[in-house]
Amino acid sequence: MTKLVESGDFMLAATVLFAVRTTEVSYGRAYANPEKDGASPWMATGPAYVPGAPEIENPGVLPMAPDEPGEPLIVSGVVRSTSGKPLPGAVIDLWQTTADGRYAGLTPEQAGPLEGLDLVDFDLPKFHLRGRIVADTEGRYEYRTVVPGVEPAAVPGSVLDDLLHMLGRATSRARHIHAYVSHDAHHLLTHQIHFEGDPLVDTVSEGAIARDLIHGTELHDDPPSGWHGV
Ligand SMILES: [Fe+2]
Repeated sequence: MTKLVESGDFMLAATVLFAVRTTEVSYGRAYANPEKDGASPWMATGPAYVPGAPEIENPGVLPMAPDEPGEPLIVSGVVRSTSGKPLPGAVIDLWQTTADGRYAGLTPEQAGPLEGLDLVDFDLPKFHLRGRIVADTEGRYEYRTVVPGVEPAAVPGSVLDDLLHMLGRATSRARHIHAYVSHDAHHLLTHQIHFEGDPLVDTVSEGAIARDLIHGTELHDDPPSGWHGV
């Protein structure tokens, strides 16, 4: 721990190792209570959120280049209340990395430790792979994007990297897409989805990922436009 403090990585270590659990205790329970009422599991916001992302169509496409590198991905579902009722008009505010694991839209001040991890691309448009989608009259949503990249949790060879190895923790985070899910009549849910088959979902740096946050994918050759999964 002394080495960690001297290396300047103590705050990053606290974030990587404890942020999900400590923030869940202090904030998460106020928003959604999975054990009590069956809400989707709550996850930390993380440092990469940028407010004001543009609204996209539904079904729609997250803002990205026409030839965006990466594997195309279609995400679809239904926003429901904890009693199972679909929620038309619910807003899903999405943000994710590029396929090579970099966030757009952060200033050097906002990027903080992410910059040291090479997790920020300052050249991309501000809202690249960031967008808000509004659930339709049946609560449905669908968007196209690319499979997000892997985010390193520590600089290779750093004291934090050594500590994660010593603890048997992963030194990268599983691939994920962040979301704030909101609706006028309900508490905000801070959410992240992960992907079945990603080897990192079982070896995470910050603690086990709830199984309900890990979603299956199906491989399609060339899906037509329109609704797919729901
Ligand atoms: Fe993230």
